[in-house]
Amino acid sequence: MNKVLIASILVIGVLGQQSPPLDCTFLSCLATGALKVSQSTRQAYVCMDGYYWAGQSCQPCQPIEGGFYKCSDYYSTGSLTCSPGWTQLNGICVNMPNGCLSYSLNSSGNAYVCGQCDKGFSLIAGVCVENQACTVYSSTRYVCTQCAAGYYLDWDYVPAISTSSDYYYNFFDGFCSPCGITACQNCPSKNTCTQCAAGFFWSFSGLTSGSQTDGSGTCQKCVDFCTNCKNSQTCSQCADGYYLNTVNGVSTCQTCLPSTTCMKCSNGTTCSVCASGYQLIGSTTCQKLPEGCTQMDNNQNCTACISTYVLNSQTPKTCTPCGTGCATCTISNTTVTCTKCQEFYYGVSTGDGANKVVTCAACNSVPQSTGWLRCGGPNDVPSYTTVQVTQCVDGYFLVSITVNNITTPTCIAAVQIQGCLTLTNTSTNTNNVCATCVRTFSSYTGGTCLSCPPQYGASTQLSAQCNKCGGTSTTDISCIGCSSKYFLQAASAASTATCATCSPNGGCLECSSSTNCTKCNTGFYLSGTTCQPCQTNCAQCDNSTFCKTCMDGYFPYSGTKTAQAVCVACQFGCATCTSPGQVCLTCIDGYVFQSGGCVPLNNANCALKLNSTITNDKPISSSGCSICKYGFHMLQNRCFQSVQPYAGYAYGQTTNVTTDLNYQNDTKVYAHLLMASFIMLVFTL
Ligand SMILES: *[C@@H]1O[C@H](CO)[C@@H](O)[C@H](O)[C@H]1NC(C)=O
Ligand SMILES: *[C@@H]1O[C@H](CO)[C@@H](O)[C@H](O)[C@H]1NC(C)=O
Ligand SMILES: *[C@@H]1O[C@H](CO)[C@@H](O)[C@H](O)[C@H]1NC(C)=O
Ligand SMILES: *[C@@H]1O[C@H](CO)[C@@H](O)[C@H](O)[C@H]1NC(C)=O
Ligand SMILES: *[C@@H]1O[C@H](CO)[C@@H](O)[C@H](O)[C@H]1NC(C)=O
Ligand SMILES: *[C@@H]1O[C@H](CO)[C@@H](O)[C@H](O)[C@H]1NC(C)=O
Ligand SMILES: *[C@@H]1O[C@H](CO)[C@@H](O)[C@H](O)[C@H]1NC(C)=O
Ligand SMILES: *[C@@H]1O[C@H](CO)[C@@H](O)[C@H](O)[C@H]1NC(C)=O
Ligand SMILES: *[C@@H]1O[C@H](CO)[C@@H](O)[C@H](O)[C@H]1NC(C)=O
Ligand SMILES: *[C@@H]1O[C@H](CO)[C@@H](O)[C@H](O)[C@H]1NC(C)=O
Ligand SMILES: *[C@@H]1O[C@H](CO)[C@@H](O)[C@H](O)[C@H]1NC(C)=O
Repeated sequence: MNKVLIASILVIGVLGQQSPPLDCTFLSCLATGALKVSQSTRQAYVCMDGYYWAGQSCQPCQPIEGGFYKCSDYYSTGSLTCSPGWTQLNGICVNMPNGCLSYSLNSSGNAYVCGQCDKGFSLIAGVCVENQACTVYSSTRYVCTQCAAGYYLDWDYVPAISTSSDYYYNFFDGFCSPCGITACQNCPSKNTCTQCAAGFFWSFSGLTSGSQTDGSGTCQKCVDFCTNCKNSQTCSQCADGYYLNTVNGVSTCQTCLPSTTCMKCSNGTTCSVCASGYQLIGSTTCQKLPEGCTQMDNNQNCTACISTYVLNSQTPKTCTPCGTGCATCTISNTTVTCTKCQEFYYGVSTGDGANKVVTCAACNSVPQSTGWLRCGGPNDVPSYTTVQVTQCVDGYFLVSITVNNITTPTCIAAVQIQGCLTLTNTSTNTNNVCATCVRTFSSYTGGTCLSCPPQYGASTQLSAQCNKCGGTSTTDISCIGCSSKYFLQAASAASTATCATCSPNGGCLECSSSTNCTKCNTGFYLSGTTCQPCQTNCAQCDNSTFCKTCMDGYFPYSGTKTAQAVCVACQFGCATCTSPGQVCLTCIDGYVFQSGGCVPLNNANCALKLNSTITNDKPISSSGCSICKYGFHMLQNRCFQSVQPYAGYAYGQTTNVTTDLNYQNDTKVYAHLLMASFIMLVFTL
């Protein structure tokens, strides 16, 4: 089921396009967060879907496939919106099946079904089945009863069986095949035609040899530019741009005038409709609309303009461009003034009062505008005394620097540092002194942000097994706790404490020194201060001669046959099983009970397995799948195909759902019955 993600993001030309959100802790990852454009309001900042404004830059919400979260905190999840073609189900965005418009769990909650299909698909038993040139389906059996123009119902069609479960249509007995006669629009069978396509007429060529009833013929082309005719001499309807000219009872198609721009006319002297981009003036002229003009009157005065143009009062009236970077404008006499600048432009005003004129200039045309994305000037924001930046491009922080009581917003390039959310306002340097760190990072001395232990590449390094760190925003990071199998080895200075390994044999889980183990790993038992191995594949023991519990996937063998080990492996796919091993109690991840064993979820057409184990008083059939994949329905916790196309069966429309083994015989019988009642029409001229 391939599904193309349709980008819903409007992209501004050269500025780049949306890439999927990355797992970003490096600032350099934030390549596109700021570029989302909203033309509707002039905001100081706008972040792309899936990002939020963190005061100085756009930062990511948690990424999710097929949609985005709205959030106000680094990497958190807020309200979820799914992309077109995806829908929200169980709190995530899922890709909708081909042709499906509303995807959900069915009323009993045991199968994924479609509730509504797109054009070109039919909803059959919760499945959207693609229509191959079929326009009407029978309501009881999934067979086509009417084909689209140029196709006929081909009951004899015996297709190959596809291995894909996504496409059913070509398995059905009611199948649409293209007409065998060229340019035929309606054919009841391959070689009969009841109507030729537009611009063609039926030419009867005689009776086929030895037959009194079977006629033959072809669809022949009408005279040039004719869309409807009965023979090759005369026409009854012409194509756009042509009119019917009748001389001595013979009609042909003649060109309208003006020949390239008139779309509809009833004779060669007047035009009634002009081609797009042209306007009919009087009844004989198709006048090209001037630049920016969408409509004009009979005096060739423009009456409406496209949005970035304004109607002027010249004679005749035309449309004047608003100018570079201007979205809407007004005009007085010949002076254009901008009323709204486009995104990434700011307004520049000259003159006062009635003489005030506004034009637009690009933010990145301002001197020292490195890193600027959006900006505003005194004309846009009255409180501004100069043009100032309101949002930086990605990879820059918007920092307010105060010098001599004057605060100036500045874009500071983010050097490659990890985990920094905002910079201090006091910094004019490029060291990126962090004021706040992103989640999972903490602030340490010198305005650095570090995770625990610091990631590879950080200036401070601690033991990789360190899982708890000390330190504050005024002190350095230090190690104060270690992960399992390691212990904290104190050193003279706290900042140099490291994690050392418990014991070399790997059996120790917790220790206080390299020689003093206090807790052992699975498969080991504590003997004094050291860990000793249990028997092979044994998970829990108190000594090396007796096993209390076997590892997952193994069972304690108690049979009479000679076993190599105390714990013996279950069948593949079983997580736990009973002795002597053939009865699974639970399946490993990705496997589900079916037919008494564990089979991969996908082979069982199961989307989610039932969360239960089998016990002696509970039959095997009561366990299994909990939710079936799309296209399958559930019977006794097993999943069966909902539409069995080759047999024409759809689940819920016949009681015989699971007997799919006789389908080939069944299809033949049905096809022949229909054949008998569908004797071909004889073509009538
Ligand atoms: C052409 O058609 C127009 C409108 O249908 C009509 O008014 C006009 O008289 C026609 N001219 C000729 C020469 O037939
Ligand atoms: C329209 O155009 C004509 C000549 O092209 C001009 O005389 C007339 O004043 C114009 N009308 C308006 C309303 O501008
Ligand atoms: C238009 O321009 C003319 C001459 O340039 C001037 O006399 C007239 O006052 C102007 N009209 C307006 C409304 O500004
Ligand atoms: C800074 O501005 C404040 C109030 O605007 C004023 O009280 C203060 O004296 C100014 N300081 C300097 C150094 O100009
Ligand atoms: C920086 O200054 C701006 C505006 O003065 C303020 O809104 C912001 O909270 C400051 N940021 C930090 C990290 O101090
Ligand atoms: C081992 O560590 C435990 C707990 O830390 C302690 O009580 C015990 O005395 C230690 N034993 C040896 C032999 O070091
Ligand atoms: C081993 O441990 C089991 C109980 O877990 C005990 O019954 C058995 O006697 C022990 N064997 C030896 C040799 O200590
Ligand atoms: C499924 O089983 C696991 C482990 O037994 C349990 O933690 C979980 O809550 C169960 N889920 C449901 C939906 O019953
Ligand atoms: C959906 O649920 C109903 C019961 O509410 C059940 O009869 C039907 O078979 C289910 N459909 C599928 C496709 O599983
Ligand atoms: C399925 O079809 C067979 C043969 O037509 C019939 O004998 C059987 O009773 C049907 N099963 C059900 C459940 O209707
Ligand atoms: C199909 O029909 C033939 C005879 O009509 C029969 O011999 C054959 O067993 C049938 N096949 C199946 C799969 O039922």
